[in-house]
Amino acid sequence: KNLVQIPKEFQSRAVPYAKLISKLEQVKAITNNTPLTLAEKILYSHLCDPEESLTSSNLHDIRGLEYLKLNPDRVAMQDASAQMAMLQFMTTGLPQTSVPASIHCDHLIVGKDGESKDLPSSITTNKEVFDFLQSCADKYGIQFWGPGSGIIHQIVLENFSLPGLMMLGTDSHTPNAGGLGSIAIGVGGADAVDALTGTPWELKAPKILGVKLTGKLHDWTSPKDVITKLAGVLTVRGGTGYIVEYFGEGVESLSCTGMATICNMGAEIGATTSTFPYQEAHGRYLKATGRGILADAAEAALNNYNFLKADQGAQYDKVVEINLSELEPHVNGPFTPDLSTPISEFGSKTLKENWPQKISAGLIGSCTNSSYQDMSRAVHLVNQASKAGLKPRIPFFVTPGSEQIRATLERDGIIKTFKDNGATVLANACGPCIGQWDRQDVPKTSKETNSIFTSFNRNFRARNDGNRNTMNFLTSPEMVTAMIYSGDAQFNPITDSIKLDDGSDFKFVPPQGLELPEDGFLLGRKEFYPPVDPTPDSSVEIKVSPTSDRLQLLEPFKPWSGEELKTNVLMKVEGKCTTDHISAAGVWLKYKGHLENISYNTLIGAQNKETGEVNKAYDFDGTAYGIPELMMKWKQDKIPWTVVAEHNYGEGSAREHAALSPKFLGGQIILVKSFARIHETNLKKQGVLPLTFAEEADYDRISSGDALETLSLVDMVAKDGANGGELDVKITKPSGESFTIKAKHTMSKDQIAFFKAGSAINHIGETSRA
Ligand code: F3S
Repeated sequence: KNLVQIPKEFQSRAVPYAKLISKLEQVKAITNNTPLTLAEKILYSHLCDPEESLTSSNLHDIRGLEYLKLNPDRVAMQDASAQMAMLQFMTTGLPQTSVPASIHCDHLIVGKDGESKDLPSSITTNKEVFDFLQSCADKYGIQFWGPGSGIIHQIVLENFSLPGLMMLGTDSHTPNAGGLGSIAIGVGGADAVDALTGTPWELKAPKILGVKLTGKLHDWTSPKDVITKLAGVLTVRGGTGYIVEYFGEGVESLSCTGMATICNMGAEIGATTSTFPYQEAHGRYLKATGRGILADAAEAALNNYNFLKADQGAQYDKVVEINLSELEPHVNGPFTPDLSTPISEFGSKTLKENWPQKISAGLIGSCTNSSYQDMSRAVHLVNQASKAGLKPRIPFFVTPGSEQIRATLERDGIIKTFKDNGATVLANACGPCIGQWDRQDVPKTSKETNSIFTSFNRNFRARNDGNRNTMNFLTSPEMVTAMIYSGDAQFNPITDSIKLDDGSDFKFVPPQGLELPEDGFLLGRKEFYPPVDPTPDSSVEIKVSPTSDRLQLLEPFKPWSGEELKTNVLMKVEGKCTTDHISAAGVWLKYKGHLENISYNTLIGAQNKETGEVNKAYDFDGTAYGIPELMMKWKQDKIPWTVVAEHNYGEGSAREHAALSPKFLGGQIILVKSFARIHETNLKKQGVLPLTFAEEADYDRISSGDALETLSLVDMVAKDGANGGELDVKITKPSGESFTIKAKHTMSKDQIAFFKAGSAINHIGETSRA
């Protein structure tokens, strides 16, 4: 009662508010009406069984400690990660997915000359993979968004994300959907298979980080600056173990798409996800994207049941405050998204740090920043420059996030203005954001550093053009656009002028744009839209050629032997080791569906602590190998191995190949100072044992070639992990000298079951057969 009846055509896209609210009432009863944050309300209303998960009436006692078993509402997968998710789903033998799901072909599309050339050639190159994904979608009743239809997160925002929704996505920027009030979490394919098979999905109860926004965005400042500033404050590890929840009157000055930009880049601070309470901007966006009835449903849940916003008195574990009225545009980078510099200090910093003075390219769009508001503000600057007779001084690329946004921008003359002013408009796909930039002006192997300005979200080495010496500075689309007219790192568009040919000075006025298109959104080319509710078709045959180099059916990993693990340290990694270092993207993306072939990228970006070399590891006799080559050799020689590393190992993305490949190559233990959450979970899902040093200084006592064996694993497994704890690990040097250290683990009972079975998928298969 007091909730909106949802018509049939919207039912698979609606949030089951009645069910969630009744679960929440159960939660309230257990917790004696403890005030809840918004994130807790959404998360706990998706618990399979509140009685089982909420072991204490004090929710603070479970944050960061207990595992929650959850039933997500939906799954979204991008083409690179969907291959492995589907290969794993196939091994379960189920006829269809348990929840609505979608596949999006976006990562495999190259960015070079523009959509008309890049899209057909990318479709040809990746035909086998797209056909495989389409046949899986047809067989299991999954929505298939083909190449050119758009980027996963933009399509999810336009079609699926909703206030109160809980979804999983096989991409680390899945939290983008939090801009529309969802709890959307980036996971690997094995986690997606949990949701797709109706298996409870486990998450350690997150802590809640409140970000209070005061004041109002103004002039040059954009939503991007909220998150680039926050990344500077919290660093790439600051959000680990937290859901970030925004509140405060400053939220009211944000558009829905602006909130999505902020949530998208919550991944850059390591947060589990980010979300916003229901706003009028959400209602406006839902109506503009043809979902007015779902806006009414959300408003009824908010107004009648106080759902979709935090309770009065809800407690955050930490609060950060940002005053939007004082916020300045920021530029983050190079090589890490938390190196944050206000634009007023950027020029002097480039001199101090000896960064290039010439900017070599500007790129806007992607899943992070291709909204109507972003593009209309950017084009406002282009129009000003064009009127003054200015032309871009450096290459300029625009990536629309979806066919809907592209078609709308085209109708409103924005695409034409970009093109008339020298921009290359790329396909509606990831392109340069994921290393698929076929860059013509700077060779991949160039030893000279060059700087690019992008409105993307991630800037690890080689991320965009495959060149380790390209410095990617992340900033708002407005800043990138202004910068292409100067190309000079010293230029601050807010205060500085550009000399025109006639000697006069040109100065930009602050950008202006529209939150939403005045004439509504245009869907664009119909062929890009799949049916809303696809029916599974068991007669569809999924073909994988045994000679394919792109796709390979999965062989289940062997179960645990039941004994202590006896391994050798293959290599000690120094410093930052992101999922890009562990499982490089770029050219390797094409092998995502072929575990053996892609495994030859394992840790090729990692630096050897003992020699300072990248992608070099040494066999017992001192022979040098590439890291994956030595792993393969040890696999063949039946020598199980451990890799030792430093902080935030696996930072960056949900890339499950960063866990699958080490397991495939014979890795049994990853021992580090700390893990990024998604990667740690991915390792557990593949049956690799993730351990952290109890004493960080022990990192220095271990060398490659040392024997490393667990002493109390059997006992730990017998106790079902006891929800985390310590293990004794014995290190033996080649000289025979040995010592024992303590290592911590965070294995839950279910994760112990995965470990025993050899992988989570093996366990799901065993359970569904039983
Ligand atoms: Fe694609 Fe880059 Fe977004 S890879 S999903 S556009 S972060």
